[in-house]
Amino acid sequence: MAERLNESSAQMPDYQLVPHRGFNLISGIHCPEEVDRIQNWEIRDSDVFVITYPKSGTIWLQQILSLIEVNGDVTATNDLLTSQRIPWIELIGNEKEFVSAPSPRIRVTHLQYQFMPLGIKKKKGKVIYVARNPKDVLVSYYHFHKYATMLETPKDFDEFFEKFLKGNVYGNCWFEHIKTWYSHREDMNFLYITYEEMIKDLWSVVERISLFLGKNLTPQQIKMVVEHSTFKNMKENPQANYQLISSNLLNHQHGAFLRKGTIGDWKNYFTVAQNERFDSVYQQEMKEVPLSFIWDNS
Ligand code: A3P
Repeated sequence: MAERLNESSAQMPDYQLVPHRGFNLISGIHCPEEVDRIQNWEIRDSDVFVITYPKSGTIWLQQILSLIEVNGDVTATNDLLTSQRIPWIELIGNEKEFVSAPSPRIRVTHLQYQFMPLGIKKKKGKVIYVARNPKDVLVSYYHFHKYATMLETPKDFDEFFEKFLKGNVYGNCWFEHIKTWYSHREDMNFLYITYEEMIKDLWSVVERISLFLGKNLTPQQIKMVVEHSTFKNMKENPQANYQLISSNLLNHQHGAFLRKGTIGDWKNYFTVAQNERFDSVYQQEMKEVPLSFIWDNS
């Protein structure tokens, strides 16, 4: 898939959301039969899976984890893009690579729990779930739909707002994603972190992730991981910012993966009525979930 992500001359496939076992896949990007085989993958104790709903900072974790793996030495990460160092499990063609890859196999996915390898549900390997407040996810995803060629360009923000609430997007319903994963946390070696914590105190989150992975980094090594994972440094680093990903997948004229990187951008987009509606859906959906979010940067 690394080659796939970088190929620029191939014909553009006809990308469409295709429902599969209650979850939307994207034709041309995902193959339902391959996705179904993931649950049978043999898991090693050293495997690590980062789970995110789209636009929650996946690319950020790809950079952080690849740097933790090399003790903060950015020069050791320069030969490959983050998407090659820490690939997606659900992309067409990535199964073969996973099976034969050396340990540790660190991977990312947006998939729902039901598709995941049975081994992780028996406490083999490790799982890091990264959550972001869903209002900022919605805004980030709106922009991403204009930028990513494999996703349908929204008519306007209002249309996308409805689509997101209905879960008619890749990743489906944000509430279902987080609730399902979180409700199974006891079945896995599980670390829960949020995008907002990373914005507020990246150092502490890097430390927590390192300890969870059994890596005892020195303060100097943590400093290097943090430094090379800031928004500014990643935005300037073509290995880390997806600018080298094929224009068949991302229309680089229409946006950037590292767009704004803040908490509270939703305030620039939501109307008062949309905000009230979102809050009431949130309260209803999350009333039994012991999680809270930071909604602005104050
Ligand atoms: P915005 O669109 O709000 O800027 P994903 O990789 O899951 O698609 O998430 C992308 C979002 O994470 C984008 O949000 C992007 O800017 C943000 N992001 C990525 N790296 C970041 C960093 N180092 N600091 C802050 N935000 C970051």
